[in-house]
Amino acid sequence: MADSCLTLDDLEAMDNEARARLINCLPGYKSAMLVGTCDADRLTNLAIISSHFHLGSRPPLLAMILRPDTGRSERHTLSNILETESWTLNAFTLADAAQAHQTSAPYPKTQSEFDACGFNEDWKSNCPAPFVSGSPLQVACALREHRRLDINGTHMVIGEVTTLHYPEDALRPDGALLLHSMGAVAISGLDTYTQPDAGVSFRAASVDTPTTPL
Ligand SMILES: Cc1cc2nc3c(=O)[nH]c(=O)nc-3n(C[C@H](O)[C@H](O)[C@H](O)COP(=O)(O)O)c2cc1C
Repeated sequence: MADSCLTLDDLEAMDNEARARLINCLPGYKSAMLVGTCDADRLTNLAIISSHFHLGSRPPLLAMILRPDTGRSERHTLSNILETESWTLNAFTLADAAQAHQTSAPYPKTQSEFDACGFNEDWKSNCPAPFVSGSPLQVACALREHRRLDINGTHMVIGEVTTLHYPEDALRPDGALLLHSMGAVAISGLDTYTQPDAGVSFRAASVDTPTTPL
């Protein structure tokens, strides 16, 4: 098969939507989490976000990148987080992928994606934001830092994990979570949802010993 090559000039000449689809594939498989938020009046919002990353584990910090407000569409997730300083991350299974994808549609602020897309709110006493009822992995985050990035106006939102809920049998004795046993989905690009299997696992790498399976 012949090799294809695109330069920056080629990318700039592409149609905007095609370029967005292409560039979104380049980081490889990504997180698939539903972000639950609400405003000060508890009007809820749910959005699929794939730009999550681990920033540190002590304190336990997770971050995500939210698009800028272009004036053409509002950014309800961002404005709710800045208002309440709280959000939830909720994993979902392939059975819920179509509903999860639907949360990316630009619903007006007065219409909650929980209702519009067929998810139920799950309010827990120690978190101001709503979780997705029945989600196999629910993580509460409290806002610790927010930065608007100069390079393109996107927003980096950093949260500290304050509580998490998961099935008891999904926790490995060494502390890792078995995401595949929960049926948690990953995303390719902007539109393809996939469920990884158990894969292969290795002990922490060391220069003195060959790679050892777990
Ligand atoms: C697979 C997928 C991944 C997405 N990832 C992000 C993301 O990382 N950041 C972002 O700002 N929007 C992302 N979006 C777009 C949001 O889901 C969409 O803009 C949504 O309407 C935002 O809702 P809100 O305005 O209620 O916050 C993604 C959409 C899809 C389909």
